[in-house]
Amino acid sequence: MLDLLVKNATLPDGRTGMSIAVQAGRITEVTPGLDAPAAETLDAAGLLVAPHFVDPHFHMDATLSYGLPRVNESGTLLEGIALWGELKPLLTADALVERALAYCDWAVAKGLLAIRSHVDTSDPSLLAVDALLDVKRRVAPYLDLQLVAFPQDGVLRSPGGVQNLERALDKGVDVVGGIPHFERTMADGAASVKLLCEIAARRGKLVDMHCDESDDPHSRHIETLAFEAQRLGLQGRATGSHCTSMHSMDNYYVSKLLPLIAESGVSVIANPLINITLQGRHDTYPKRRGMTRVPELMAAGVDVAFGHDCVMDPWYGLGSGDMLEVAHMGLHVAQMTSQRGMRQCFEAVTTNAAKILHLENYGLAAGCDASFVLLQARDPIEALRLRATRLKVFRKGRLLAETAPATAALNLPGRAGATAWMLAGA
Ligand code: FE2
Repeated sequence: MLDLLVKNATLPDGRTGMSIAVQAGRITEVTPGLDAPAAETLDAAGLLVAPHFVDPHFHMDATLSYGLPRVNESGTLLEGIALWGELKPLLTADALVERALAYCDWAVAKGLLAIRSHVDTSDPSLLAVDALLDVKRRVAPYLDLQLVAFPQDGVLRSPGGVQNLERALDKGVDVVGGIPHFERTMADGAASVKLLCEIAARRGKLVDMHCDESDDPHSRHIETLAFEAQRLGLQGRATGSHCTSMHSMDNYYVSKLLPLIAESGVSVIANPLINITLQGRHDTYPKRRGMTRVPELMAAGVDVAFGHDCVMDPWYGLGSGDMLEVAHMGLHVAQMTSQRGMRQCFEAVTTNAAKILHLENYGLAAGCDASFVLLQARDPIEALRLRATRLKVFRKGRLLAETAPATAALNLPGRAGATAWMLAGA
């Protein structure tokens, strides 16, 4: 007998009337119309069942700290970094853990079951590193938390930057981070990329750098990252996050850069909510959008995903752990409004992100973990349009979260008993 049988599901690829059979936490079969005895049977009633959401870029050490010790008045990246510098001496491990656990609760409720979080390694106490390693252990039964050693103040620019980053990796942080555009010079930025990629290659780690988070079209560290990834055999293991300078680069240069990134196997993570908020702040009008060239990167064969980056922290006062909100903003900023474009934006917060994180057993196929979400939507586009309610969230076959369907009871003349579900045709 099966542990769980989901019937009459629509899958993100458009297949309808599908059954998903689950045994011992794994999907054993995905097939149309299967009926078999199961300890629990769930009728999806034609709604969308998708693999869980994945956030490939987040800062959990800063999350839910909005207003501590003050609010970012200018709204710029640089005031955010300065504000984070004011907050750091006030951080306690207990408060940090408490905020991170609260955020993970929000995430699970939204069907977000895997997060790659950067953790600042600049402070020699490594307080945030220890706290997030503790959080990683504590949430492991319900959420995959992957940590990136992130030298926020610049690995070369800050005293002891390299040693602190290496100590964080020794403690068990998973991925090597960086911030080349924040080093003192372009040359130092390039040197930091080379150094950090060499550390990753030596230790067998993945790389994910904040790369060119700037409106400066001459910030070209992504080029160095692509070169180093290829030189050191890190193809498929290195990621450039943000890459916002690509928005402002000369088109001729980008025509050379795109195939170079594709050839190197470097993936790119855009952070639509934050990029549209922080970039273009020095502009008058016209004001640049500042997000990297998502459709062009995808067309060149680069793996592109969307991250949340920030929720209620020194850089961004909004957010709720909802990756559909992230994708919704992404498709608007990138003008990816075609049917295919919108589906690609859904993939940017599910399958593409899972690939970049090297998540094992992810997806809706026999052998994958039974970690999926029943949404109050009939397809990925409707899910994006509605930022659809996550009716049920399963991880390895276990029900982790339920949310009541969003339904409005109406009191309209001549429409007695009417309700609105907002689903097309409902
Ligand atoms: Fe970031």
